[in-house]
Amino acid sequence: MPKIKIDGGHELSGTITISGAKNSVVALIPAAILCDETVTISNVPNITDVDDLENILVHLNAKITRSPGKVEINSSDIINKEITETLSKKLRASYYFMGALLGKFNKVDMYFPGGCSIGARPINLHLKGFELLGAKITEEENHFIIEAEKLRGNNIYLDFPSVGATINIMLAAVKARGKTVIDNAAQEPEIVNIATFLNNMGAKIRGAGTSTITIIGVKYLHSCFHEVIPDRIEAGTYLVIASLLGQELKIDNMIPSHLEALIAKLTEAGVEMDIGLDNIVIHEPKDYHGIDIKTLVYPGFATDLQQIMAPFLTQCKGRSTIEETIYENRFQNLPELDKMGANTQIRKDNRKATIRGKTPLKGTEVTATDLRGGASLLVAALIAEGVTTIDNISYILRGYDQIVEKLTAVGAKIEII
Ligand code: EPU
Repeated sequence: MPKIKIDGGHELSGTITISGAKNSVVALIPAAILCDETVTISNVPNITDVDDLENILVHLNAKITRSPGKVEINSSDIINKEITETLSKKLRASYYFMGALLGKFNKVDMYFPGGCSIGARPINLHLKGFELLGAKITEEENHFIIEAEKLRGNNIYLDFPSVGATINIMLAAVKARGKTVIDNAAQEPEIVNIATFLNNMGAKIRGAGTSTITIIGVKYLHSCFHEVIPDRIEAGTYLVIASLLGQELKIDNMIPSHLEALIAKLTEAGVEMDIGLDNIVIHEPKDYHGIDIKTLVYPGFATDLQQIMAPFLTQCKGRSTIEETIYENRFQNLPELDKMGANTQIRKDNRKATIRGKTPLKGTEVTATDLRGGASLLVAALIAEGVTTIDNISYILRGYDQIVEKLTAVGAKIEII
């Protein structure tokens, strides 16, 4: 099995260019099948989640052409058959085929999705939305058949502003008859990106990016060209790395306003940065002090970035805390960081952790337990003294485009072995 080997402690300088957002592209690709003409999506990151979605499209007989940074999808000959358990389980975002196939054919047959095990991650809100649009759900041992004679718009209140449920309901409602209103909708930038894509194809979606989204069903969606927004979590990861090791390190092709919570927290800890229109430069690391972080839905502090912050907090003087309010099991990286010399404690209910710093980190053998947890270990390895090897790196590669190449180009000693 491949591992990532990092010789830590090297300063980083130059420019890191941010790729397209994983959590956007993994919804855009399933969304594309709603259209019967060819759609082109650009700024597509080269990550294994995209490979897994491509396999589902091929299984469904859609035509997908990939070239660097671009995919073209034509779904005019798609066959609406069962998405096998193996394909469904490959990634979380396979669940967007629920909304997309339901929206296109009024029927979908697939299994419970996969993804990182960072909590229970039920899909009850997605299903509730489909039911309110008129679908009947048959569920047996993780196998779902969701079908409707006709989908009709409805008012749908989400008990929690779930990203996945908001997007899935938009996909199912876009061709439904009449008007759908999603209340307490998620407001993440990825939602706006998906809504813009659908609108470019002729959908009528208003209010994406606010807590109320209105969708007027349309009969036909036409060809379009669409660009994936920059990945705010990738940008945030490199911003944290720059705070620890950057010497004139520029994070480029990003949208700083998508990272306001992270920027505020790094600044509170003592990080100094120059924020441009589409980039951030860190001139040099400073002395940092402990801070408290609480994850919240957008625009609050992103849960996907709290694990990345953990190695940063080991380098802050004093006591820091991380409170995780979105997922039940997102501190699996901390025992691995402790192996490298961190001083962390996780509260019994698994919802809050304390990190005491500043502790020097030492290279050793660690294991990625999930995507962002893996990235957290990678950040730690970059600042640690000596060599770290990270096992289970498939988690990292499903979400970070060319991570080894990007870090090597700015001076990191990192390789896949
Ligand atoms: N939830 C429910 N019922 C549902 C849906 C969600 O209880 O029907 C709960 C979840 O269990 C969780 C919370 O609501 O506790 C948030 O879930 P949400 O649906 O918002 O998340 P998601 O769609 O499963 C996406 C990203 C995650 C990211 C979250 C939050 C994708 C493929 N995944 O997940 O990304 O953490 O939104 O921003 O877009 C990652 O990139 O590492 C990652 C995990």
